[in-house]
Amino acid sequence: MFVSKIDFGEYVKSLANDLFRSYRQSFTGVQLNVQTDEVFLELDQAIPCGLILNELITNALKYAFLDGRNGTVKVELHAVSEHEISLRVSDYGIGILHDFNMLNAKSLGLQLVNSLVAQLDGRLELGNSQGTDLLVSFPC
Ligand SMILES: Nc1ncnc2c1ncn2[C@@H]1O[C@H](COP(=O)(O)OP(=O)(O)OP(=O)(O)O)[C@@H](O)[C@H]1O
Ligand SMILES: [Mg+2]
Repeated sequence: MFVSKIDFGEYVKSLANDLFRSYRQSFTGVQLNVQTDEVFLELDQAIPCGLILNELITNALKYAFLDGRNGTVKVELHAVSEHEISLRVSDYGIGILHDFNMLNAKSLGLQLVNSLVAQLDGRLELGNSQGTDLLVSFPC
């Protein structure tokens, strides 16, 4: 069957839950909060979005609560307007280093995120809420 559009809200929920489950042994006091609008994406946008989310959610689960603190990983997918989608992964954990330059990241994961965001003609913003807060917006 030819699949032209992916129900991306459903995909985000199951991806986030699967990743959360696979990291569960490493923490106890961490919650997952997923909020998705109903968004359908073409495969050429769904694939980079899925890879971006995979990297950002994995990073939050691996690093944000290393010191044993409790907290929440929040994953959001919003239809900002008819022509713009946003993905946001925020945690209330230890935070990414203040002087960490996302755009010049040398590590593989964030380099990958940067090139996937470029592939979407999108932009990546580092929010200043507590912990790490990454927002990707792109045209659809
Ligand atoms: N949510 C987060 N909270 C705290 N620190 C983070 C978070 N995300 C990333 N970091 C820090 O930024 C560094 C770079 O992340 P990046 O994903 O590029 O590399 P990595 O996860 O170490 O390796 P890779 O993704 O290639 O397996 C991490 O090693 C970690 O120290
Ligand atoms: Mg990583």
